[in-house]
Amino acid sequence: MKRNAALVMLACLGCGEANEPVAARASPPRVLSSPAEAVDLDADPLVVHVRLRAAPALHRIGDSEYPGFAYNGQLPGPTIRARVGDTLVVELENALEFDTTLHWHGLSVPYAMDGVTWQTGAVKPGETFTYSFEVTAAGTFWYHPHFDSERQVDLGLYGALIVEAPTEPTLDDELVLIFDSWGEFRAESGSGGHGTPGTRPGALEPGLGPLHTNEHTPDPGRWTVNGLVSPAFPSRSGTSLRVRLINASNDDYLDLHWSQIRQIASDQGLLPALQTPERLLLAPGDRAEVEWLLGGDDFGIHAEPYSMHGGVALGESHELLRVETEGSRAAPPAPEWPFSGAAASSDPGSTDIVYVFTGDAGGSDWRINGERYPDVTIEELDLGSTAVLELRNASATEHPFHLHGHAFEVLAVGGVAPAVRMLEDTINVRIGEVVRLRLHADNVGDWMAHCHLLSHAEGGMMTVLRVRP
Ligand code: C2O
Ligand code: CU
Repeated sequence: MKRNAALVMLACLGCGEANEPVAARASPPRVLSSPAEAVDLDADPLVVHVRLRAAPALHRIGDSEYPGFAYNGQLPGPTIRARVGDTLVVELENALEFDTTLHWHGLSVPYAMDGVTWQTGAVKPGETFTYSFEVTAAGTFWYHPHFDSERQVDLGLYGALIVEAPTEPTLDDELVLIFDSWGEFRAESGSGGHGTPGTRPGALEPGLGPLHTNEHTPDPGRWTVNGLVSPAFPSRSGTSLRVRLINASNDDYLDLHWSQIRQIASDQGLLPALQTPERLLLAPGDRAEVEWLLGGDDFGIHAEPYSMHGGVALGESHELLRVETEGSRAAPPAPEWPFSGAAASSDPGSTDIVYVFTGDAGGSDWRINGERYPDVTIEELDLGSTAVLELRNASATEHPFHLHGHAFEVLAVGGVAPAVRMLEDTINVRIGEVVRLRLHADNVGDWMAHCHLLSHAEGGMMTVLRVRP
């Protein structure tokens, strides 16, 4: 309640008409902040213990109400924050009518804690399961269900997981931005390929809210930032911010730009050097970190139209959020990041595993090496071995490839080695492109390897890579 009151006040301060009821406005300005953090229930400084309760929730997306799901009633779910070396304990209470799980996207965790249902069970309705593991790498990660993901993630089950390293400087402020696009999942399009639950007749069926019926859909591809449509972020000139970006949408890419992109990290923590790209492409599942060195100028974060059917697309660029700076102090100096300067490893030229992506852009049949999950051939690697994976996209859409349990190094994209060493867990493969990855198999398990367009994963574009002891 307090929080809402504060939002209303700020909204009115912004428009200068403090007495006019906010309800009378079609689209009141919205004030952005980082998602509230999970409460650590453990006094031990080396243990982070949090509770997440997955339950139905009514989301307000712009002016529409949207029956969905949430963790602890929050959209996005609570941000979990830990430091490298901490033990993370997460109690997941399933108050949904469906099975669910938690997957720690981008973190290497023991197989039994990975939240997949290949050989391990889901958390049943009414049950609580405790995930527990040591966090071993710094970076911006996220959590989401890995069961009926196309429905559950789209309807609001996701949150940020931040792992800090003691060697990294602290900036004046930090901002977590989770982007999501609404109305992607349609119940009737679900393939039922793995684990799509039956729906109870007569029950409220999340996924069929106003954004899912054509007549009432104002804009099916509409984006939210931390659950808000076109919010404003109030900040002060002269301050430095570390900004962590996560694309949590099922199927929509973000081709971002703003006045000056200063990228410090990608999927797996700090880059070897500062990058200043013109645009920042975030495929579904991808993360990036940037620094904002704020002077007195306001600026907008824009998304260019981008399509899985070939990238740059027709349409209007649109402003996802606006950064409003108060005061006229000069931009602060850049912080000193402990960049490693590491160059990309050289490509040994040999290939251990090839994954060919195929499918029909108009349909829901998606394959890796001609196979649909769960009827797949399991590729195997020995623990401690190093392998080269080659991804070949022979389909008419792009695919963000994601591997569980490991980070990989990008050796080459379309025959070109990256300028610096790139450690990722999710990498977009364009149409007709070949991407080569180096993988150090250091985690035993049956790891999911799949496209992170959730409609493609649900349509079969998922396989298993086994690391044997
Ligand atoms: Cu983000 Cu297999 O998941
Ligand atoms: Cu795909």
